[in-house]
Order: sequence, then structure tokens, then C-alpha cells
Amino acid sequence: MTVLTVATAPFDGQKPGTSGLRKKVKVYQQPNYAENFIQSVFDVVDGKEGALLVIGGDGRYHNRTVIQQAIRMAAANGFARIMVGQGGILSTPAASHLIRKYGALGGLILSASHNPGGPDEDFGIKYNVSNGGPAPEKVTDAIYARTQTIDHWLAVDTPGIDLDRIGTVQVGGASVEIVDSVADYAALMEELFDFGAIRAMAADGFTLAFDAMSAVTGPYATEIFERRLGFAPGTVRNGTPLEDFGHHHPDPNLVHAKELYDLMMSTDAPDFGAASDGDGDRNLIIGKGRFITPSDSLAMLAANAHLAKGYRGGLKGIARSMPTSAAADRVAQALGIPCFETPTGWKFFGNLLDAGMATICGEESAGTGSDHVREKDGVWAVLLWLAILAERRISVDALARDHWARFGRNYYARHDYEALPTDKANALIAALTAALPALPGQSFGPLTIAAADSFSYADPVDGSLSANQGLRVLFEGGSRVVFRLSGTGTEGATLRVYLERYEPAGGALDEETPAMLADLISAADAIAGIARHTGRTEPDVVT
Ligand code: G1P
Ligand code: ZN
Repeated sequence: MTVLTVATAPFDGQKPGTSGLRKKVKVYQQPNYAENFIQSVFDVVDGKEGALLVIGGDGRYHNRTVIQQAIRMAAANGFARIMVGQGGILSTPAASHLIRKYGALGGLILSASHNPGGPDEDFGIKYNVSNGGPAPEKVTDAIYARTQTIDHWLAVDTPGIDLDRIGTVQVGGASVEIVDSVADYAALMEELFDFGAIRAMAADGFTLAFDAMSAVTGPYATEIFERRLGFAPGTVRNGTPLEDFGHHHPDPNLVHAKELYDLMMSTDAPDFGAASDGDGDRNLIIGKGRFITPSDSLAMLAANAHLAKGYRGGLKGIARSMPTSAAADRVAQALGIPCFETPTGWKFFGNLLDAGMATICGEESAGTGSDHVREKDGVWAVLLWLAILAERRISVDALARDHWARFGRNYYARHDYEALPTDKANALIAALTAALPALPGQSFGPLTIAAADSFSYADPVDGSLSANQGLRVLFEGGSRVVFRLSGTGTEGATLRVYLERYEPAGGALDEETPAMLADLISAADAIAGIARHTGRTEPDVVT
């Protein structure tokens, strides 16, 4: 085989986060750009000789081009086997599963998650390690360091292969297996859930609307929900992955999945509505006439998971990110299992899952998952809900009311203030941090502050410390406001304000969220001076 050695130069490698290196497509289309990043990854991972690499992406614009190049480069860098999803398609959780199932050294996942796609939009590459999870910080640090010194990249000199034909072909010294993108993942889901029971519920007339948002979950959802579980054709909406996601943001929230939300609140609503994002790791859950917040979803799934086949033995523990509501904590307490409060970001769950300390985990930002893979998993979350409903045979609304009657209800919302001047956002956080010690005892309307701190986390597995992970203001009675700056925004700074009001069992459980949060919203502004610092009187996005 002929290996090309292409001279190159250090580049704007910008430190990749756990979500990888996200850039505009136009940036990725520059000569050497994707190659430099991929070679930097290969240069820092040990054990490539003879190893397996998994490659796949969410199907967005530029996916196939980079996949062809990644195959040539992996072969030139010594990988013996390369497993690629058919058509270049793998959802993030499916890629995580393939890495684990086939003992791969790692995987390249091509995605910019819920960001829009197309020639003028976003692209991304991320590297996952052998446990199937995102590369830990020491690996991403090493990749970044390499981008600052890289001087050449390697590729086998060969034309592109047919990504659509299942089978094995040789590229240089490597055998490249094009595999069905869905089969292994669907088989895992059949291990975890009693498909017969869900199928019986569907046969009894239970209806589902799943919005794949023209993104990667289309083929997974069509195979699993329509073919294997017998939901009616048309159950999966926007089920064909499009390079530009049909010009939409493939972000399953109440803003971008509004059509689904409106359907679920209408008289024509099916029994269950759900959506997933660009790369298939997020989920949105809406019952007929009943939106379930991601925080509540985590708590409700945890409380009922033992009803699903794969979780009959019970849960070892629950983990939630700090800004996620404390609803899951009350479930953990009732089950007599630990509940871990981690910083924002999925990577903090990996250690707990690997160590067998937690089984199920979630974030308020629509990510839910379990120890079956090392990524959050949208289709899995929908299946766990369906498995529970198939067992209990009640509506989503009834399940929610039953849950609240037992545990109380955490009314919840997140207010985002986007594209703020960075200095103003930083000034707000600095002033609030300085004010924290004096807050306890102060009252804002009917609310009295019980405690306030800056959240830091000591990882119980490896002892590593993460400080400055968000400012928490806790009120008497269990209500809370959290302030933090987004780590993923692309324009200026984004301030996230997380509002949570706890109503105990027997309290006001059936009220409208905005009304229930009104006092907290005023208190949040008074405490942090949002309007004073930013000039904004309304959030840009409420989820
Ligand atoms: C956001 C979410 C966070 C999630 C991350 C990656 O990060 O809030 O929960 O893990 O995207 O999907 P943020 O922009 O808040 O830093
Ligand atoms: Zn995603």
C-alpha cells in the first residue's frame, strides 16, 4: 500500500471538549483541517497496531467526506480493523455500544449534536475511548497539545469506498467492515426491554409519535418502533436523516420541537410523544396533555425502572448533574440507594457507571442514560418509558400525578440569557460569588435563603476535584436557584438560571409552572442583578 505523508502545520486546534471539536463546516473544509485533528487524535492514542476503530456520524453535511478520509488515515496509522456504520451513520449511543461490544480501542463520532447542519452550519469530530465514553480530559488535553505541534498526517493513497454496501473491503492493511447502523443497537434494546409487552400495548391501541427531527435517530426509530414493536407506519416523523436536518435545529426542546408539543397538547394527541436530537443522545418526553421535564423524567424512570427487564435487579445508584432538580434524590432516598450530584456534562457519569456505583443518570438538558452504554441515549429513554407504561398500563399524566403524590413535585424551568457580552456575564458571576456568604438568612418576598455556595465536586472514584461548577442558592423548604455560564455556547456568554420550587406531597401539585416559579424568578433577579448587569429583563429561551 502507498501511504501519503502530507506536510502540515499546527492549527487552530482549540481545545476539544468532551463533545469534541465543533466548528463551522467551512472551517472543516479548509485543507488539512479535519486531517490535522484526526491525526492529532491518532498520535496520542496508544495501541493502534492491530486494534479496531469504530467510525460513524449523524449524517450531517460533510459527514461522508470526512468519513472516507478518516478510513484512509486509520488504515495508514496501523488500525487492523475499521467498523463503519452503513452510509456513515451511527448515533452517538450506537457508536458507544459498538465500541464496547466489539472491544474497540475507540471511535470517531462525527457530529455537532443538536447544532444545525448544512454548508454554512456546524460540523464536529469527537473521540471516544474503549469504555465507549467521551475521551477524558487528560486525553483531550493531549490531543490539543498535539494540534499545536503537528507537522504531518498519514493516509493510504486510495479512492473512497462504497459506504452504502454492507460487507468488508480492504483499505491498505486494514479491513473495513461496513455494518448495519441499527442492528447491534436494536439487539441491545431487545435485551434491556420486553418488546413483547410493548408490542402488546401497541396492539391494544396505545399510540406514539416520535419526531426524529430529520436527524440520525430516524433509521433506529423506524426499525425499533414501527418494525419491531408494531407501532403504525407514520409513527416516526421526519425519519430520514437529512444533511441539513431540513433547515431545522435538531434540538428536542419546546422551542425546536414545537410541532410535536402542539400535537401532544391537542385533542388529536397520541398517547406518547417523544423526540431526539441530531446525534440521538438527547430526548424529549411528552404525554398526552402532559410535558415531563427532563428532571422529572429521570426521577420517574428511576422510580419505575425495576419494571423493565434489564433493570429488574434494581438500581445501584442514581446520578444527576447539579442543576438537575432534586426529584431524583427523593427517589434514591425511598429506594435506599445513593444519589450522586455531579457537575454539568456527561463525562462525570462515566466513572460512576464504570465503578458500578450508579445505574441510571440524567441531566436537566434532556439527557438520560444508564450503564448500558457510556453516552446519554434518546431512543433508550423512550423505550424505558414505554416499557414502564406497558407494565403499569396507565397514562403518562396519571404516572406523573401518582409520582408527585408520593414524592412531592419539583416545579422546574431553565431561563437562558444568550449572547451576552462576556465581560458582563463574568461580572455578574463575580459579584454574586462575592455576595454568597452574606445571603443565608436574607428574605426575598416569601422566600428565605437557607444556604448558598459555589458548587465543587470531588469525584468519589478517582478523587479529582472540579471547582466553580455553578452558584447555588437554596431556600428554606427545598426550593432553589442555580446560576452558571454555559460551556458550550458559541457566541459571547450564555447565562443559565435554573429555577426549582419544591412542593411536598399533599401540597399544590397541579398548578401551572410559570405561576409557581414567579416568586423564584423575582428572587433570582434580585439576588444576581440580572437586569442590572446585562440590561436584559427577559430570558431568550425558557425550557
Ligand atoms: C449543555 C448542557 C449540558 C450538556 C452539554 C452537552 O452544556 O447544559 O447539560 O451536558 O450541553 O450536551 P452547557 O452549555 O450548559 O455548558
Ligand atoms: Zn446530542
